[in-house]
Amino acid sequence: MNNNEAIVIAIESQKGGSNKSMLCLNLAVAAAMRGKTVLVIDCDPHQNNTKTYATRTAKRKAEQSLMTVNKSFERIRELQQENNFDLITLKNSKIEDLISENKDKYEIVIIDTAGGLETKTNVSVALNSQICLFPFNSGTYDLDTSEYVKSLVESLRKYKPNNQTVFRSILHFKPTIGENKLKEVISKTLTWKDTHPILRNVVYKREIYEEAQNKGKGVCELGTASSQQAAAEMNKVYDAIESIIKKIRGEK
Ligand SMILES: Nc1ncnc2c1ncn2[C@@H]1O[C@H](COP(=O)(O)OP(=O)(O)O)[C@@H](O)[C@H]1O
Ligand SMILES: [Mg+2]
Repeated sequence: MNNNEAIVIAIESQKGGSNKSMLCLNLAVAAAMRGKTVLVIDCDPHQNNTKTYATRTAKRKAEQSLMTVNKSFERIRELQQENNFDLITLKNSKIEDLISENKDKYEIVIIDTAGGLETKTNVSVALNSQICLFPFNSGTYDLDTSEYVKSLVESLRKYKPNNQTVFRSILHFKPTIGENKLKEVISKTLTWKDTHPILRNVVYKREIYEEAQNKGKGVCELGTASSQQAAAEMNKVYDAIESIIKKIRGEK
């Protein structure tokens, strides 16, 4: 890849309900807030992020029309571009075609997928990404799905030995998780360190993520007191991803 091409970030998991769509939305917003041009491709037939994006677009339009009363049109145009991203829903095209059609137009492409790792689309998404993220909840059955992730990563490496994709897991915890359980989860993830090591930064389950999602927003752009903790943790996750991107691009 050359440095003018988008970094493609895939979000995958074996299970549904692993926080993929939520992570996708929040990373897209965090990247857009840092001035990146961002495209989300929604590959999930349930189209959760497509729906969230429709809400987002409607709310933004409503906010902008309110602004016409006392703001200049130039400022409204600015607002339209600020902190925004584009979204395409995968329908009849092949995901690899959508990626190659768009990789020159954006800096970051984030792909939300349906659960399941062995589907044609998801294998293709993983193979065509530079960073592939696997969100995990901390429940035993959730952590057990790591075996599927491990075999996916191993078979992709076998199939394409020079594959440069960076595979990382992201843990999602309930805020009430105790010290012991936390240690137990972390020690379990050590067994994955060669295939899909965990990011140091974790995400907590917080009401505010769903509240923001209902408005079509990511937690980083709410700017309210109640969203501060979530925004800080999501910004840290994005920092970690940004440093992977810098390495991929050969920057310091
Ligand atoms: N950090 C979070 N805090 C609170 N709720 C969350 C968080 N991440 C996801 N959720 C909620 O958990 C459920 C599953 O998340 P979702 O992103 O839709 O999973 P997936 O896309 O993997 O199926 C959804 O109801 C979502 O709103
Ligand atoms: Mg989803």
